[in-house]
Amino acid sequence: MTMSHPAATSEACRTGFADAAEYLTARVVFNRPIADGTFRIRLECPTLAAAALPGQFAMLRLPDRHDPLLARPFAFYDTFRTALDEIPDGHPAERRYADFVYLVHGKFTTALQHVTAGDEIVAWGPLGNGFAAVPSVDHLVLVAGGIGQTALLALGRERLGKAAYGHIGGHQTARRVTLCWGARTAAMFGDTSDFRAAGIDVHQATLDGSTGRQGTVIDLLDHLTAAGVLRASPAALHVACCGPDGMMAAVSRWTSHRGIGCHVSLEAPMACGIGICFTCVARIREEGGDGWDYRRTCIEGPVFEAPRIVWET
Ligand SMILES: Cc1cc2nc3c(=O)[nH]c(=O)nc-3n(C[C@H](O)[C@H](O)[C@H](O)COP(=O)(O)OP(=O)(O)OC[C@H]3O[C@@H](n4cnc5c(N)ncnc54)[C@H](O)[C@@H]3O)c2cc1C
Ligand code: FES
Repeated sequence: MTMSHPAATSEACRTGFADAAEYLTARVVFNRPIADGTFRIRLECPTLAAAALPGQFAMLRLPDRHDPLLARPFAFYDTFRTALDEIPDGHPAERRYADFVYLVHGKFTTALQHVTAGDEIVAWGPLGNGFAAVPSVDHLVLVAGGIGQTALLALGRERLGKAAYGHIGGHQTARRVTLCWGARTAAMFGDTSDFRAAGIDVHQATLDGSTGRQGTVIDLLDHLTAAGVLRASPAALHVACCGPDGMMAAVSRWTSHRGIGCHVSLEAPMACGIGICFTCVARIREEGGDGWDYRRTCIEGPVFEAPRIVWET
């Protein structure tokens, strides 16, 4: 008798994002601080850079080390043709370099901050579904909390027709893109010039009021709505969101009350990134039903329609 695991028949498994992933050793081009406890690292990894789509991620690991044992997931921030590029240029297939932006947090990122040019990193990817299911709308609103902006830059560039990635993009599909970025304090923000250079309208909020609007991203969304910045009809707006779970749950409720579509990119801890270990599961509602089941966020996510998430916060 042949038994098949339920997940083996799922759409995600048939789609097989992980099947296209490469496992490689990448050379570090630079690894520099860009904000309080935040670094930007550039890796030479042509196969990953050429294929990565907005919202996809790679698993990174330090070679020849067993502490930490497990790799960690990081969103592709952007991809480049030359080691010195600041803006993606040329056909995606010519891209050789991928940037990641990370917050020094625990074991892996504490070690990663000491890596220097010429060192090697083990990487596998590109992984996950990315933001491909985010519809084309007049006004795309990127909502980031903490380090969540890393997953959103390439999406904004792609939708404004400023860059193509992998097999997608190259023409404008959103008339406007706005970034609403919340953090505890001004020092936590990285440079916003990448977003501004792409033509993305940037608004910030800090809990302590040290820059931007004082309050949470929800306060910022309320303020931008009242100020007429988010004035399009709900059908012409869409939110793409990445940040801590509590913040994404709040953004999910905010959009749902207003009839605005929303996709979120979950940051569940992951061990393998390719669907084997089941460490990354989240509770996802069945399509068109009330029930839910655990889904692997590395394979079927990390991006989901917000109403499908059963939030635990
Ligand atoms: C798809 C995806 C993309 C990501 N992209 C980025 C990125 O671009 N930049 C970035 O800085 N981080 C990103 N992360 C988060 C990053 O992978 C984790 O924070 C990672 O654990 C850091 O490794 P570490 O060893 O430094 O910390 P760890 O030692 O793993 O963790 C330190 C502490 O944080 C807790 N923790 C770890 N991960 C999470 C989590 N996801 N949510 C809540 N608590 C957690 C642990 O329980 C522990 O207490 C991403 C995560 C996912 C799933
Ligand atoms: S991280 Fe291993 S199954 Fe998702």
